[in-house]
Formats: sequence, C-alpha cells, structure tokens
Amino acid sequence: MIKYIGSKRTLVPTIASIVAQLPVRTACDLFAGTTRVGQAFRRLGLEVHSNDLATYSEALGLTYVVAGADVDRLRLATLVAELNALPGRDGYFTEAFCRQARYVQPENGRRIDAIRDRIDELVLTPVERGILLTALLEAADRVDSTTGVQMAYLKQWAPRSHAPLRLRLPDAVEGPPGRVTRLDANLLAPQLDVDLVYLDPPYNHHAYFANYHVWETLVRWDAPESYGIANKRLDCRSRKSRFNAKRDAPAALAELIGSLRAPWLVVSASDESFHGAQRLHELLVEHGHVGRIDIEGRRYVGAQIGIHNPAGEKVGKVSHLRNQEHLFVVGPDQELVEAVTAGSGALR
Ligand SMILES: C[S@@+](CC[C@H](N)C(=O)[O-])C[C@H]1O[C@@H](n2cnc3c(N)ncnc32)[C@H](O)[C@@H]1O
Repeated sequence: MIKYIGSKRTLVPTIASIVAQLPVRTACDLFAGTTRVGQAFRRLGLEVHSNDLATYSEALGLTYVVAGADVDRLRLATLVAELNALPGRDGYFTEAFCRQARYVQPENGRRIDAIRDRIDELVLTPVERGILLTALLEAADRVDSTTGVQMAYLKQWAPRSHAPLRLRLPDAVEGPPGRVTRLDANLLAPQLDVDLVYLDPPYNHHAYFANYHVWETLVRWDAPESYGIANKRLDCRSRKSRFNAKRDAPAALAELIGSLRAPWLVVSASDESFHGAQRLHELLVEHGHVGRIDIEGRRYVGAQIGIHNPAGEKVGKVSHLRNQEHLFVVGPDQELVEAVTAGSGALR
C-alpha cells in the first residue's frame, strides 16, 4: 500500500471493530485515499462504494474494492512478469521526475516510462487496467525518494531508491465486490443510498492533489505542463478542494453532513483539523446519537524528521510530535452508539 499522509493505517482495526458491531450491510468510504478503510469494510462482508477525487485512488479502488473472483489473476500475473521484463526508455516520467526533479532514480524512471506506455497498449478491462496501474504505483512508491509527500524530494537519494523497480500483483481482497467513483464528495453525498458512510476529509490546507501529483500524473499519463522545483502539475494551482481552505471547509463539511441520508456515520477528525471537535459534535448531533473515541498518536513522518532549508540543514523545530485523532460514531440507536464507543483513549 502506498505511503499516504492522513492514511488510517493504524486506525483501521479500531474502525473495523466498531463497524462490525453495527447493523449495516452497505457502506461508502467517501474520501477513500488509499482505500484501506473500504478494504476493511469489504473484509467484514459489506458492499462498499469507494470514492475520492484522485485518479490514483480510483485505480486503488478498482483493485481492492471492485475486483471480484471473476478476475483472471493468472493472466494478470503473466502480464506483470511481461511488464517487469521490459527494457527502460526515456519519456515524460524520467525527464520530469528523475532529471528535472528527483523523486525516482533515472534507471527506475525509464522502466516506469516503458511499463506505463505498455499498459495503455494492452487490451484490458477497466478492473484489469486498475490492477496493473496499482501494481506500477505501488512499485514506484517502494523506490521513491521522498518523506511520503511529493511537495519535495530528499536532497540525498533515499536508500530504498537504489533498489530496482519490481511490480507485484496486488493481493486480492476477500468480500463482496463493490464500486468506485471519482466525484466531489458534496455532489455524491445526497445521492448515496447506503447504511453507513465513513468520512475522512482533508483536515488542513495541505492539498492531496498537489501532495501526490506524481501518482496523479502516473495514472492519468497526460504529460501535463509543470512548475517549480517539485515539478507539480500546472492544474495543482486551479484544482482546489473546499476542504483545504480554512474559510470554506466548515461550510463544506456542514453541507456534506446535512445532505447524508445514511443512518450510520463514522467520522475521523484530528485535533489539528480546521473543524474543532465541539463544532463537529454540534453538526453530527443533528444526524443522530453521537459517541466519540479519542486516540493519541505520533504525527506524520515529516514532523518527526523536522524542518530543513533547501540545502538540507535543520533550521527549525516542529512544535509538537504527537496529536490526537477523534473517531465519531453517529446513529439512530443510542445504546449501541454508547456500547461501541465505550473505553475510549486508545493509543496509536
Ligand atoms: C485524509 S485523506 C483520506 C485518507 C484515507 N482514509 C486513507 O486511509 O487512505 C482525504 C482524501 O480526500 C480526498 N478529497 C479531497 N477533497 C475531496 C472532495 N471534495 N471530494 C472527494 N474527495 C476529496 C483526497 O484526495 C484524499 O485522498
């Protein structure tokens, strides 16, 4: 699974154990990102709808939420072996992300160029294409040279970047096949007809579209014009999520919650979020009974590493290394809400 800021990697077992106790059969992971949470729901036997604005999240959703037992995994394993054997050749990726910027070593970048072009030549179903794109995305992520976001790359090549790129066939996820969309959450919300919605919106000004622009370009393969040292896609300037603007985010979240008809909601928030826990509680109480779990944890890896100037020298101290995540559970049955949120204060 790719490195992703705000990913619920450590919280998934808690979220899944809560949802396993609720009377739900269908769920939407509305801000799916890596799709980890949707995958956990699927393993519980729920029919999952995975949604995110990002094109790479759509590829991950096709692989881990949509792909069912009918996928010919033997054929895909053969294709992965064929892609791994392709010789590298210079292309957009090598030039933009290995020479002008330095996210991946040029030798691996040349192979990414060859493999990505080949995926577009193959005759594939949308799910097969999603799986091969995921295999490439995950392989590139294993040899990248960043701290986990693509606003910058490391001054010295990361040790893992020296390893040769190697695609692996992504694991199949057990459970009923679901669906995936790439829509603005606020447009999709009023149309949703599911028992539970999981909400994990961006919680500050850091835009995912810009933070993961290399993955977006790798999946879209649209050779965009770029700018700056990080060589970001030009449309990073225009494609903004309302959830990343301090002024707009509270209204966007209030509208979103107000338009959801699902009886059950599970909502992730953080004490670093634009949305204070008290305000979030006021919004959620309109929807049903509200319970909350607070989870102490370490902040993202960038915070652990510290603040550096362009020459790589440490120039500042990060204000704090720990934060608190909140998990709200909202539903029509007060006793059940209280039962599943009892015993809060877990550690990540
Ligand atoms: C905090 S991350 C979700 C992380 C996810 N729960 C995980 O575990 O990987 C927020 C996600 O919201 C997506 N996003 C931002 N604005 C959106 C919008 N208006 N509609 C749908 N998705 C959006 C971002 O692309 C990002 O993947």
